[in-house]
Amino acid sequence: MYATILLLHLLGAILWTGGHLVLTLSILPAALKHKDPRPLLDFESRFEKLAMTALAVQVTTGMMLARHYLPNPALWFAEAQPFSVIIKAKLMLLLLTLLTALSARFRVLPQLGAATSSNAGSPVKTRLLYTMAAHILLVTLLSVAFVIVGVGVRTGWFY
Ligand code: HEM
Repeated sequence: MYATILLLHLLGAILWTGGHLVLTLSILPAALKHKDPRPLLDFESRFEKLAMTALAVQVTTGMMLARHYLPNPALWFAEAQPFSVIIKAKLMLLLLTLLTALSARFRVLPQLGAATSSNAGSPVKTRLLYTMAAHILLVTLLSVAFVIVGVGVRTGWFY
């Protein structure tokens, strides 16, 4: 059972972090270079369902893995438990990820989509494009941090 949950956690990590790395390293630079949000909006609309599924898998399997190490969730926040550093770090990364993703999805993306389809003046579109780029970069850095903290469980980097 533990092995299956770990496998699902790793597959979800590949999808979530890998997708965001492709977005940041391949799609975003082209969109910024040509000041054209369309490839970005296109990728976002195709990737959104997969990404949300991957994040749901990460949260579910992550909690199960955390319970594997510390079955009592009250201990996840106990100072005396060295392993709780990992769980607290993961939960903090999750909170920051959710806040950034919600801001991108419900604040920036609708405005960027509207500015793109109405052919709004370039300065407005460019400002929104850079705001979106900052959100993408932050979620990508957080996704890599999730992996680093996760690998730290076996390597003992953090405790
Ligand atoms: C997008 C979010 C996440 C990503 C990309 C991610 C990624 C990873 C990776 C790559 C590992 C290393 C697995 C290994 O050493 O074989 C790991 C381990 C782990 N993760 Fe996550 N994780 C995420 C979210 C979470 C969440 C929300 C929790 C819940 C607290 C969590 C809890 C754990 C635990 C407990 C381990 C240790 C598993 C083990 O090695 O036995 N993760 N994670």
